[in-house]
Amino acid sequence: MTPYFKTALVLLIACSQLAEGFLIAGDACSFDNKCTCSINRIDCSYRYLTAVSDFSSYHKQADYIGLNFNFITSVPANAFVTLFSASSRRILIRLDNNRINSVDVDAFKGIPTNVSVDIYLNNNNLQTIPSALEKIGGLSSLYVQNNPLTNIDVLSIVGPSLSVFSVSLSKFRSWPTQLQNLTRVVHLTLDQIPFKNIDSNALKSVDSLTSLTISNSKLEQVPDAICLMKDMQLFYFNGNKNLNQTKQLLVPCSGYAMNYVSFVDLSDNDLVTFPNVFDVFPSVKRLQLIDNDIHYIDADMLPHSTMVERLYMAGNRLKRIPGEITKLSGLRQLYLSHNDISTIEECDMAGLRFLELLDLNNNPIEYVSKSALKDAHILNRVELGGTNLRTIPEAFSSLAKISYLNVTGSPIECDCSLKSLRSVLPLDVQGTCASSSQTINDFIASSLSVC
Ligand SMILES: *[C@@H]1O[C@H](CO)[C@@H](O)[C@H](O)[C@H]1NC(C)=O
Ligand SMILES: *[C@@H]1O[C@H](CO)[C@@H](O)[C@H](O)[C@H]1NC(C)=O
Ligand SMILES: *[C@@H]1O[C@H](CO)[C@@H](O)[C@H](O)[C@H]1NC(C)=O
Ligand SMILES: *[C@@H]1O[C@H](CO)[C@@H](O)[C@H](O)[C@H]1NC(C)=O
Repeated sequence: MTPYFKTALVLLIACSQLAEGFLIAGDACSFDNKCTCSINRIDCSYRYLTAVSDFSSYHKQADYIGLNFNFITSVPANAFVTLFSASSRRILIRLDNNRINSVDVDAFKGIPTNVSVDIYLNNNNLQTIPSALEKIGGLSSLYVQNNPLTNIDVLSIVGPSLSVFSVSLSKFRSWPTQLQNLTRVVHLTLDQIPFKNIDSNALKSVDSLTSLTISNSKLEQVPDAICLMKDMQLFYFNGNKNLNQTKQLLVPCSGYAMNYVSFVDLSDNDLVTFPNVFDVFPSVKRLQLIDNDIHYIDADMLPHSTMVERLYMAGNRLKRIPGEITKLSGLRQLYLSHNDISTIEECDMAGLRFLELLDLNNNPIEYVSKSALKDAHILNRVELGGTNLRTIPEAFSSLAKISYLNVTGSPIECDCSLKSLRSVLPLDVQGTCASSSQTINDFIASSLSVC
């Protein structure tokens, strides 16, 4: 490279970094050189601030005000009043991850009444949802989870305007009925419900939602209060470690099934058996049961279904691929990494004709029957990393559509036992040979033809 060319290159890199810095991060703000300002945007996050910056000398409109991840304890009156104008569009104010325990009743003064406003106040020290929010006409999203709240009375005023609401209820002694004012909410998160069960009508009038999250609760089972949410499509139930597993996880809704629900996440609940998901959500397409303790599947729990396309069961205690899974004949993606599976027998995946992806990473697999995948005609991605396999089983090397195989961390011997791979080339095999540092891809390219 000539010196001239090198200089030009260095300049080019320097300039492109400058340009990037200018466009994305913005310049230091006139009111506080620790914050960055760009068009319609003020970012003071992660600046060790102990108070809300003084924006009063800054008269430019901001649609994004980021004060998150600081040490702010209170929000004063008129904190943002100079930052709005009649042409403000959607406004987002991030005050989350601070130590806020008080918010002045006029803190949000100046916000035009006809714009949508999203406010993040999660991870603070609030005991009550600030009444300052009552003065925001268009409050649309409100995040207040991870605060020691004992009072959410403000919802009886702002509830009907919210489409997104997220709250932790750990300090409540009885059910906060103000949740019933969330009559237009679309995404609702109820974290840390401190009760073993809740009333069937606890979420009466909260019937427009499409996505519900219940996390870290003390509930013994999924409450039948969800049955009233007839438009629900996504259901998340995670980190609930107080389940009574002698009861069914879900209480069937009387007289009907929740047919719009297509996504169900039941990860991280310490479940020991496969739950009765299909009693309540017969149309689920994607089912996540990651990081539980499931070791077997009761045949009654799984109906024959062609609806389920993706099943995630990584991080459980399965010793075999449960035969019941073959009832899910529409399955396209099956995730079983981090279990205790050591053998795969002939019928374990029989009839799974639509399977495209199979993830078996990090299982102590030693043996795979030759005909284990005889029906998987379109299987093309296989994860077999971190197993005990010493060769690539014929069951995989005879898959007509296979294009990617990961055996990273499996002790594969690179010898002529791999010659069956010739019929499925080109194939990308990720991993290295056990007895040399050669990649398996290199071995295939250089040595397989002489076998
Ligand atoms: C809000 O109302 C003001 C004044 O009536 C108007 O100028 C502005 O365009 C409106 N903004 C939006 C987003 O509708
Ligand atoms: C909130 O709910 C209560 C009880 O259902 C009701 O009386 C009140 O009118 C609701 N508030 C609003 C603003 O809709
Ligand atoms: C769990 O539920 C069963 C059946 O309803 C009940 O007999 C048992 O006492 C419950 N266990 C706990 C710990 O609450
Ligand atoms: C391949 O397998 C290794 C070992 O299990 C794993 O760490 C890696 O993430 C896998 N690669 C992909 C792309 O999944």
